[in-house]
Amino acid sequence: MKTQKVLFFSLYERFWHWSQALLIFVLTFTGLEVHGTMSVMGMEKAVNIHNVAGWALVVLEIFTLFWMMTSGQWKQYIPRFEKLVDQVKYYAVGIFQGAPHPTVKTPEAKHNPLQRLTYLGLLAALVPLQLITGALYWGYPQYQLEGFPLETLAVVHTLGAFGFVSFVVVHVYMTTTGHTVFSNLIAMITGYEETEKEVH
Ligand code: HEM
Repeated sequence: MKTQKVLFFSLYERFWHWSQALLIFVLTFTGLEVHGTMSVMGMEKAVNIHNVAGWALVVLEIFTLFWMMTSGQWKQYIPRFEKLVDQVKYYAVGIFQGAPHPTVKTPEAKHNPLQRLTYLGLLAALVPLQLITGALYWGYPQYQLEGFPLETLAVVHTLGAFGFVSFVVVHVYMTTTGHTVFSNLIAMITGYEETEKEVH
C-alpha cells in the first residue's frame, strides 16, 4: 500500500477555521469578564474587545456563507445517516480495540456522519443563535425585539457560550482520533493529509 497527499482544506477554509477559533477564544475569555466570573483587564476593556471580536465574527461568517455557497462546500454538511450508528460504536468501543475507521475520508466527503451532524448544528444553529443574541444585546435598548427582554438575551447568550466551550473540549479530543494522533491537525494547518492509495 502506497500513500499519497490529498488536499482536504483549501486556504480560505483554513483561514476561516483558525480565525474562527481565535475569535471564539477571545470572545470566551472576555465574555467571562463581562459576565463577572473573573477580573483580568477590567470591565470596560473586556466589553470593547468582546464587541469588536463579535462583529469580526459576524463579518467572517458572512464571507464564509458566501464561500460555502459558491464553492459547493455546504454539501459537506448535509446529514448522512448511513453508518452513523457504526461511527458512534467506533468512538465508544472500536477505537479502543484498534478497529478500522467505519468511513473513508475523501475530499468530496471529508466528514463522517457524526461530524456532519455536529458541524451542521454548530454552524446552522449555535453560531447564528450566538451572533443574533449578541447583536441584540449590543443594540439594546435602541434596537429591541418584542418578547426578547435583556434578561432573556443574557441567559440564552450565556447558555450558547457554554455550548461553545463544551463543543471545543470534545472537538479538540476528536481531532486526535484520525488515522494518526496529529493527522487531522496537520491537515487543518497544511491543507493536506496522507491517505493510503492502492497500487495495482
Ligand atoms: C484549539 C482549538 C481547535 C483545534 C485544535 C481544532 C482542530 C480542528 C481540526 C484538526 C479539524 C479537522 C477535523 C477533520 O479533519 O476531521 C477541525 C475542523 C473543524 N473545526 Fe476545529 N479546532 C479548534 C477549534 C475550533 C473552534 C473554536 C471552532 C468553532 C467553534 C471549530 C470549528 C470547526 C469546524 C466547523 C470544523 C469543520 C471545518 C470544515 O468543514 O472544513 N474548531 N478543527
